[in-house]
Amino acid sequence: MSKAIRLARPDVGEAELAAVADVLASGQLTMGPQVAAFESALASAVGTAHAVAVSSGTAAIHLALLALRVGPGDEVIVPAYTFPATANAVELCGARAVLVDVDPETFLVRPELVAEAVTARTRAVLAVHLFGRPVAWEELQTAVSQDVVLVEDAAGALGARYRETPCGALGLLACLSFHPRKIVTTGEGGAVTTDEAELAGAVRRLRHHGIASGQPMDISTPGFNYRLPDVLCALGIPQLERLESLLAARERVAGWYTERLAHLVGTPSVDEGDRHGWQAYVVGLDRRDDALAGLRAEGIETQIGTYAVHHLSAYRDRGSFPGADAAFERALALPFAGTMTEDEVDRVSAALARYA
Ligand SMILES: Cc1ncc(COP(=O)(O)O)c(C=O)c1O
Repeated sequence: MSKAIRLARPDVGEAELAAVADVLASGQLTMGPQVAAFESALASAVGTAHAVAVSSGTAAIHLALLALRVGPGDEVIVPAYTFPATANAVELCGARAVLVDVDPETFLVRPELVAEAVTARTRAVLAVHLFGRPVAWEELQTAVSQDVVLVEDAAGALGARYRETPCGALGLLACLSFHPRKIVTTGEGGAVTTDEAELAGAVRRLRHHGIASGQPMDISTPGFNYRLPDVLCALGIPQLERLESLLAARERVAGWYTERLAHLVGTPSVDEGDRHGWQAYVVGLDRRDDALAGLRAEGIETQIGTYAVHHLSAYRDRGSFPGADAAFERALALPFAGTMTEDEVDRVSAALARYA
């Protein structure tokens, strides 16, 4: 049997090993200089004044919402098709996640339905650039009034751009993830990016028990331990330094897939003028479940795209969302990494063609 093809393969090597070894040798594994170095590399990659590293993408969303003082009685709009952490973070603040349907072709929230879902209680919209494809930002902006805050769930969108603006710099706040299926990985990790010093300060305090560093010890609002340790920040720095080449490699692999598959299944695309972040390569097809099982049996690891949130017990009372249903039933994430060879893409594509 041919060699197995994994769903994802982080592009880390000697540079990351050396960076981590340096931190181990320094003896300072957390709350040291690598955190600031990682944050500053991230802020310059995204183009925001501030980046605050936290322990996961989920923690990033949780703290972004808490920094905005989202709480009981508030509503936050969330796509019905997303990783459940997007909705969970809202509910963990005591607010209500109001689900809105997505376009089953783009997998992205439909701005006109966002406009319909806004109520007097709506505090924010969590705009998810799902799988790295930028949300139609201007349409979203015109869908809501100015007192509704747009927060990006850019968990998978580091490197992506809406027109000239990087994802991560579009919303008042943005949330990133460094899970191993993301373009830059720290194993687990996340960050909040923003231009607003006060919001960045609030996130910094909340990630560290509610303590403001450099000031007399006090806690005015209790916080968490959502810190990202130095050893993990160090792992991310060399990857941020070569972000452009990591993205170029993923674009090349995505291009190979699209050449082979565009006439057979729904393939990912991006609006004109935007740049896809290629967190994942997700196709749409009717025989998704057969393909998933068949490819796995051949040693090709695939996965569903993501979740229809309203199918989960905690969210079953939130309405019906046919676009999210279709995406949930049809989306298939193919093996995807910048280090994939054209032969591997051939093998996956030929196997998938049998189910198209
Ligand atoms: C859209 C989206 N939001 C949030 C998250 C949560 O990120 P993390 O796994 O780092 O907590 C993910 C993770 O895959 C995601 O895809």
